[in-house]
Order: sequence, then C-alpha cells, then structure tokens
Amino acid sequence: MKDFSILVAASLLSADFARMAEGVAVAEGSGADWLHLDVMDGAFVPNLTFGPKMVSDLRKVTRLPLDVHLMVEHPERIVDAFLSAGADHVTFHIEAAIHAHRIVSGIKAHKRDAGLSIVPSTPVNTLEAMLDGLDLVLVMTVNPGFGGQALIPECLRKVERLAHLRTSHGYEYRIAVDGGVNRSTVASVRDAGADVLISGSAFFGADDPASEVVFFREGRPAGV
Ligand code: DX5
Ligand code: ZN
Repeated sequence: MKDFSILVAASLLSADFARMAEGVAVAEGSGADWLHLDVMDGAFVPNLTFGPKMVSDLRKVTRLPLDVHLMVEHPERIVDAFLSAGADHVTFHIEAAIHAHRIVSGIKAHKRDAGLSIVPSTPVNTLEAMLDGLDLVLVMTVNPGFGGQALIPECLRKVERLAHLRTSHGYEYRIAVDGGVNRSTVASVRDAGADVLISGSAFFGADDPASEVVFFREGRPAGV
C-alpha cells in the first residue's frame, strides 16, 4: 500500500512575482513538501501567469518537487515544454483535453508524475476511466484563476468519493485539494480524504509559514 501521508504544497501564485526566488526560499525554509506552480493562459481561466521558462529557472534554485498545474486550453500543445523545463509533476484539466489518455501516457513516458484536475462544476465520473495509473487527482475547491477565494464545501464530497474509489479499487493516486485551504478549512479537507494540501494565500500571508505547514500537516498548531 502506498504511503499517503499528508503533504503540503506552497502555491507560488501568492508569492511576489518580482521576487520568485525569495518565495521559493520561504517555501523551502518552512518545510513545505512541494512547490505548486499555476500556469494560466487567459483562456481556460481569466488570468495569466507564466510559462515553461519560470519552471526551468526555478529548477536551478531548488530541489523541491515542482508541481505544475496547467490551467490552459489545449494542454497537449504545451505539456512537453514543461517536461523539458524540469516539472516533476504535470497536472492538467480534464475539461480542456479530449485525448487525456494520450497526454497522461506522454507524461508517464518521461517518468514524471501525471495528474488530472476537475473544476468545481465537473463530477468525479468524468475522470473514472482515467483513474487507474494516475499519480495525482487535483480537486479544485474554488473556481480556478485567482488565489484568496473561499473554499466551496460541496467540492469536498468529490474528495470523499475519490478516496473511496482509491480504497475500493486499489488505485494509487494522491488526492490534492486546491483553493481556500487555510486554518479554518483544513480539518474538513483532511477529513474528506485529501493528502496533498495546496495553499497560496494562507501560506504566503502567514507571519510564520512554517507554522502553517505544521498546522496543515498535523491538524493543530506545533507543540499542541
Ligand atoms: C487557483 C490556483 C491555486 C491558488 C490557490 O486557481 O490553482 O493553486 O494558488 O490559492 P489559495 O490557497 O489562496 O486559495
Ligand atoms: Zn493550482
């Protein structure tokens, strides 16, 4: 049985883009497990962020796994560039891909982790034919595009379903929750069965990001 201990991913969307390396250093110093990089194309989501060069530049300054979340149309056109740039995990949206199986196979052929994501309006059923062999399922708990939004609690029912399917079929994907994870919501996120907690505004907005990591991982403040 695979180890599904809780991991914390710091989302650089909430870092200062003029000081990205400092954001990476904060994440490393805090004990976060992964760096989460949101790639937005201004079409799949109403915002723009960065492309593969950010990934290749950050690859040189950190050993943390780079967890790339593609919020783009036609992910098949850009996925290889992110693999070449050094992404450790590439997650794309099922809503944006007709030939998701081909894209996942391409990621796995490069020996990187492949993830699929669903927005709040997409049911788990849409993913079911793809679950066997996935490394990650990312459940968006806000409508993607911006940090700092409130978690939509109904989305956690999908996390419960994914956890149930994983147990009953022996699947090996991690379950990530992205959007609105903070000290008030993290218990419900963990209880639903998530094991990757992605945090942008709560993490980078904290006076002490290391204590956020402990709180997220343990479900309580350090030392309590
Ligand atoms: C939103 C992004 C998230 C974002 C989460 O579209 O996919 O990764 O950084 O930000 P918070 O934690 O502020 O909700
Ligand atoms: Zn994200």
